[in-house]
Amino acid sequence: MDLWTPSVLSLLVYFALCVATVGLVMWIDAPYGRHQVDGWGPTVSARVGWIAMESPAVFVAAAFFLFAPTRSPIAWVFFGVWQLHYVQRTLIFPFLLRGADRRMPVLIAVLAFGYNVFNGWINMAWISSHSYDASWWSDPRFLFGLAIFAVGLVINWRSDAILRALRGPGDSGYKIPRGFLYEWVSCPNYLGEMLEWFGLALMTWSPAGLAFALYTVANLGPRALANHRWYQEKFPDYPAHRKALIPGVL
Ligand SMILES: NC(=O)c1ccc[n+]([C@@H]2O[C@H](COP(=O)([O-])OP(=O)(O)OC[C@H]3O[C@@H](n4cnc5c(N)ncnc54)[C@H](OP(=O)(O)O)[C@@H]3O)[C@@H](O)[C@H]2O)c1
Repeated sequence: MDLWTPSVLSLLVYFALCVATVGLVMWIDAPYGRHQVDGWGPTVSARVGWIAMESPAVFVAAAFFLFAPTRSPIAWVFFGVWQLHYVQRTLIFPFLLRGADRRMPVLIAVLAFGYNVFNGWINMAWISSHSYDASWWSDPRFLFGLAIFAVGLVINWRSDAILRALRGPGDSGYKIPRGFLYEWVSCPNYLGEMLEWFGLALMTWSPAGLAFALYTVANLGPRALANHRWYQEKFPDYPAHRKALIPGVL
């Protein structure tokens, strides 16, 4: 088996995982954050959990990209935007979290760690093994994909920052977020995350990137609906016009 050339089977497994994930998370809200409940085994500090479970997306992905036998020059852009997101998510975001002693089940961290090993491998192996010629620099798929990624990144970071600002140091309560895209949807951070990975899929024109984008929708789409319902139940004055994920639609 050539680790630098993802097989059709591994891609099919990834698409099947998307279907399995949407089925699972529509049935069970992943038990972390506001949906955390007892009974999921030992827990770990949320900060440690985030660092541990996201670290393969930085380090395993970097190993597969940097040690690949070949790569096109433009693949460095794909690697760069990937690392821009994941260095922030793994090494900065966990230290910015507000919520004092928030913990998460070890099981969630272990499952996410395994997913990030697989996702880091399949995406970096695909983009390093695929040959992009010089015309790709001006291809509309690359340019639009990069723009969509950038818009998604800004939405994701800004939305997460607005949530952080709702809490003071040591505070772990919840408030109604306001401003920016929160005026239209309950989970703009998830919307931004989805845009980022659809942008990457478009700019790389990669089945692995498409599987990643679909997985993100499968994972975060049902959670956005659950978060939205949770807000409506918790806050009687929750803005009635606000949707869950897509302004004016869903
Ligand atoms: N690619 C993927 O599949 C994937 C999967 C999961 C997450 N992510 C990304 O990881 C980031 C965090 O995800 P998440 O599910 O933890 O997001 P989240 O539920 O929106 O929570 C983000 C942070 O804000 C706090 N928070 C949320 N709502 C709040 C409110 N109304 N008032 C005060 N604080 C509030 C949370 O505290 P608590 O922890 O105390 O609730 C947590 O610290 C997002 O950017 C998301 O896109 C990506």
